[in-house]
Amino acid sequence: MGKIVIPLPMREVAPGAVHVPGWLTLDEQRHLVQACREWATGPVPIRHTVLPRGGVMSVQTVCLGWHWQPYRYTRLAHDVNGRQVAEFPAWLGELGRRALADAYGQEHPAEAYEPDTALINFYDGQAKMGMHQDKDEKSDAPVVSLSIGDACLFRFGNTETRGRPYTDVRLASGDLFVFGGPSRFAYHGVPKVYPGTGDPATGLASGRLNLTMRVTGLR
Ligand code: SIN
Ligand code: MN
Repeated sequence: MGKIVIPLPMREVAPGAVHVPGWLTLDEQRHLVQACREWATGPVPIRHTVLPRGGVMSVQTVCLGWHWQPYRYTRLAHDVNGRQVAEFPAWLGELGRRALADAYGQEHPAEAYEPDTALINFYDGQAKMGMHQDKDEKSDAPVVSLSIGDACLFRFGNTETRGRPYTDVRLASGDLFVFGGPSRFAYHGVPKVYPGTGDPATGLASGRLNLTMRVTGLR
């Protein structure tokens, strides 16, 4: 008798870029919201990142493991309070390996994935993020992205330009998005959040949380 395969509702948006809707359970989302609340308070508090030319990002960001500021990673948050960011916890790395295994199946050795930084972004109803590449890492290991709360429009493009071709994806609460391989350095952004679409049962009454794990390749 043949094996019965229940298709997972996942989609490869571009080579190496996989969207897995509803990947996190409600309990896992609650746990992450709780953890993000704590990280947001310090040792380096969540804040709007100031860009080199004086612009201020509309999202609020707090980092784990390494502190990101445009456009580099440091151990100390020189642009906030000079303190060292919170440790990247082992359980989050475990979640990242599970995410990779589920998104890529056998194609990628998920056991070898050792993310050492996470950027946690909070979007209020008006916040957005322009098209950019994640390219401050000295590693081409995949980025694992988890979303909780309000849904958003996530624009996933190409590695050459900020413009077309791109694919618009709705990322909802609990969704996983992994981008690696040929898509690791693709432009992407968040043009819009859909206020009021989240489930308050996650612990997040409004807004959107996104956590991306990465391998910095730094030591
Ligand atoms: C990011 O590009 O760092 C965040 C993406 C997202 O919020 O989904
Ligand atoms: Mn990014």
